[in-house]
Amino acid sequence: MTSQETSRRMKVLLILFCISSILLKINGEEDYELDPAGYLVYCPCMGRFGNQADHLLGSLSFAKELNRTFVIPPWVEYEKGALKSKQVPYDTYFKVESIQEYHKAITMHDFMENIAGKIWPEGQRTSFCYMERKKLKVEPGEVVVPGCNAKDGNPFGPFWDTYNIDFKKSEFYAPLHFDVHNTIIGKKWQSKYQPHEWPVLAFAGAPAHFPVQLENLELQKYVQWNDEMANKAKHYIKNVLPKGAFIGIHLRNGLDWVKACEHIKDSKQLFSSPQCLGYNNEKGLLFRELCFQTRELIIRQIKRVVKKMNSNNPRNTIKSVFVASDSNHLLPDLSQSLERMKITVHKLEENNPHLDLAILGLSNHFIGNCISSFSAFVKRERDIRGFPSSFFAYPKDTSRTKHEEL
Ligand SMILES: *[C@@H]1O[C@H](CO)[C@@H](O)[C@H](O)[C@H]1NC(C)=O
Repeated sequence: MTSQETSRRMKVLLILFCISSILLKINGEEDYELDPAGYLVYCPCMGRFGNQADHLLGSLSFAKELNRTFVIPPWVEYEKGALKSKQVPYDTYFKVESIQEYHKAITMHDFMENIAGKIWPEGQRTSFCYMERKKLKVEPGEVVVPGCNAKDGNPFGPFWDTYNIDFKKSEFYAPLHFDVHNTIIGKKWQSKYQPHEWPVLAFAGAPAHFPVQLENLELQKYVQWNDEMANKAKHYIKNVLPKGAFIGIHLRNGLDWVKACEHIKDSKQLFSSPQCLGYNNEKGLLFRELCFQTRELIIRQIKRVVKKMNSNNPRNTIKSVFVASDSNHLLPDLSQSLERMKITVHKLEENNPHLDLAILGLSNHFIGNCISSFSAFVKRERDIRGFPSSFFAYPKDTSRTKHEEL
């Protein structure tokens, strides 16, 4: 064979190779490399978006500590009146690549499609829980074996069903826990559950704390809106809000919240309150108005922020207020009170909490509810970007309380 012929043959081979890899990609049979260090899967089974976001950061940090691939769960959403939760892929709102900048990660969908069949066969799947989770329904005469019952109830069942996952066994991992920042627990996990024996750790609930630990706050920077969401937010700000600066506010005031706020009496912290009070209450104690505020307080505080911002930036004064709320946006009250300052008040025409979040993240100033994990998401994102935020009723107006005490 002449060298010319050889090089021609090489070219043909190269072309064939390229075509076959293209065909493989088209067929979706792209080869996923298996991670010998194993995988971490969990159900974000507690709370709505805000809580799930807190848990996402903690679980991501835990996966990194264990050096396992982080299987990014879908968001669990609850539609009014529906009996079963709906699982919404992570990348509906956020970029998978951003998480991968921090640690190896794959979406739950991709994991089940491309990896699970090879290392986590049906009929041999184990669910992990700290201790026994009691079965919801026990038939008369049934012998109850203690287990995680990972699919009992909503969203537990619908979550795993979305991916046709059933569990054959349960593993109680007590006394292990997730505080990898302050203890050597990561090593204990690794030696007790080695990847060759336990390629997949599938948790019945998030392997993380709520609220998010101080050490994990900065992981927020790996949670980035996808282009579609970012563009929608920018479009709204540019085309719906009046030209100029705006304040974003989050009003948490539904009936469930009024009930939750009653717990203020007997606690040092409630939900996301460390974001203003400090993780050790170094910046104050809980008080009722931090959780639930009167209209008067809300209006007074917005006006105060407007005046301060306008005097700091006389060339870019506040022209509007954007309101996100789970229940009452207080639009008529706010509009009326801010009319004299020529400030208009807006909310999304159609309910869309994720778009609310993306817009609040871009406001010139944000006022949130310190107790709320929904507000906490916005606050973390803004902190990363260096944007200012504050909280309703914080810091406590001591001049008033002193007055009342007299
Ligand atoms: C973590 O896992 C990867 C494989 O995904 C491996 O190459 C790497 O050496 C592991 N790192 C440590 C510190 O064990």
